[in-house]
Amino acid sequence: MKVLIIGKSGQLANELVAEAPAGIDVQSFGRNDVDITSVSCFADVVTRIKPDVIINASAYTAVDKAETDAESAYALNEKAVEIMAKVAKEQNIRLLHISTDFVFDGQSNTAYKTANTTNPQSIYGASKLAGEHAIQAIYPENSAIIRTSWVYSSYGNNFVKTMLRLMNDKEELGVVTDQLGCPTYAKTLATFLWLLAEQESIKLIYHWSDAGVASWYDFAEAIQEISYELGLLNKQIPITPIPCSAYPTPAKRPTFSLLNSQLSVEILKPIHWRKQLKSCLLNFK
Ligand SMILES: NC(=O)c1ccc[n+]([C@@H]2O[C@H](COP(=O)([O-])OP(=O)(O)OC[C@H]3O[C@@H](n4cnc5c(N)ncnc54)[C@H](OP(=O)(O)O)[C@@H]3O)[C@@H](O)[C@H]2O)c1
Repeated sequence: MKVLIIGKSGQLANELVAEAPAGIDVQSFGRNDVDITSVSCFADVVTRIKPDVIINASAYTAVDKAETDAESAYALNEKAVEIMAKVAKEQNIRLLHISTDFVFDGQSNTAYKTANTTNPQSIYGASKLAGEHAIQAIYPENSAIIRTSWVYSSYGNNFVKTMLRLMNDKEELGVVTDQLGCPTYAKTLATFLWLLAEQESIKLIYHWSDAGVASWYDFAEAIQEISYELGLLNKQIPITPIPCSAYPTPAKRPTFSLLNSQLSVEILKPIHWRKQLKSCLLNFK
């Protein structure tokens, strides 16, 4: 099987390459290899590579910046996805596309199912939802949209790396406690995607996150505790739980964005986020 990954330098694309099962011919392309906003450029690359599966791990992921740069967010999160769906359909290639918990408004108090109503609260969330709609309209028969949440990895930039830096540099820290969701180790998300790539038939929407639930404050506490145990930090600092109103951001985030991964558990059983965090931090050593 030949697989084309888009978004080469990102967290997930790196994990996909690292976790690729033996025997799969993986080609990972970044923005310097292909212009995903040009249908002719993308179609040329796909015609040349002839993949069986395209995994779109690229996105405009700067959630706050998107509020003032909607054009770029939509170019990548909607238009490029539309192009991928068209080209994948024309060439009969399976398309796996990653989306986000930010398509929901966070007003629920039970984990979001795939069929629940979407209502994004930010430009990022709205642009990602527009990408989902493009796939649904153009190529639902052999595409899957995989929504995930709070992704981190030893590759790229993420909350875990930011916390480690702040915990090293500062004497105390305030972290938001009234936003709940689930951290997701990109490595296991990659494993889930590889299993999906090989499934005979796929559904249109999946939810995937690690198991359990956390606030950003819980996540930060766990990062500090485990990193200290592993010797990644040489001190522990006081972490104060703060409301999101004390940490205003340009983009509004859902206060509750836990995903119900019921459909995905049949494919891969998720592991608790704390165990996953430790596995990831062991790679930092
Ligand atoms: N990070 C999270 O917390 C989170 C949460 C929920 C869902 N997701 C979704 O999960 C997927 C993977 O996220 P991630 O965290 O791995 O993202 P990431 O680390 O930010 O990587 C995204 C990649 O997209 C590519 N990209 C960005 N701007 C581009 C541009 N203008 N033209 C072409 N390519 C561009 C870049 O790869 P190149 O530079 O190699 O082109 C970049 O490394 C995304 O769909 C994201 O929306 C992420």
